[in-house]
Amino acid sequence: MNKPWPYPAIVAHRGGGKLAPENTLAAIDVGARYGHTMIEFDAKLSQDEQIFLLHDDTLDRTSNGWGVAGELPWEKLRQLDAGGWFSREFQEERMPLLSQVAERCLQHGMMANIEIKPTTGLEYQTGKAVALAARSLWQGQTDPLLSSFSVEALEAAQRAVPELPRGLLLDEWDENWQAMTSALDCVSIHLNYRLLTPERVAMLKAAGLRILVYTVNQSDRARELLVWGVDAICTDRIDTIGPDFT
Ligand code: G3P
Ligand code: MG
Repeated sequence: MNKPWPYPAIVAHRGGGKLAPENTLAAIDVGARYGHTMIEFDAKLSQDEQIFLLHDDTLDRTSNGWGVAGELPWEKLRQLDAGGWFSREFQEERMPLLSQVAERCLQHGMMANIEIKPTTGLEYQTGKAVALAARSLWQGQTDPLLSSFSVEALEAAQRAVPELPRGLLLDEWDENWQAMTSALDCVSIHLNYRLLTPERVAMLKAAGLRILVYTVNQSDRARELLVWGVDAICTDRIDTIGPDFT
């Protein structure tokens, strides 16, 4: 029997796609302004084990800091400008804590796909911390969907909070997908959309998995994937692939 899947067909990538600085509260607000009901974002640990949002291991691309983010305490990270790289309008936007993100999602009535994006070497620690925090922050709300490219992070999440739904992320096709998703008791598999064919969709669905694809930015492609039976599209084009796309 399929596990519950309360999530919508369209998910705003990194909060606001390409219309706001990724993984910020401003991005979540932009996603909400376009009517999105679910966002994806990337979470990792600071040196002192605060969970905050950032995609890369390093600070260089999306803030005015530099070096490995996970080597700095939150007190230093929280002072960085995480919006100025995107545009002047978003200057002084900060990297948010997971707790702030949860609050903002709940204010907007949005569901969440928390991608556990550990700093290299901190996979287990991060998976455990994110799962425990997610359980308490989203208590009484629709469960956030946890996902990761790191099997170790997902194992830690599974051990810490088995009841939270998990999705395995794959950027390359792995013939072991069934053994991996089954061991992790995943509800879903999250794939680079280029890996899919109608046959693979049918095979994954027959195994009882939901399918989320990233990052689909062309409407025609999104439509085709939905016709094949894909359950959710993660997109940067939060304007053209909106919540009413289906
Ligand atoms: O979770 C889907 C997608 O965000 C995975 O890739 O690199 O954008 O985090 P990335
Ligand atoms: Mg991501």
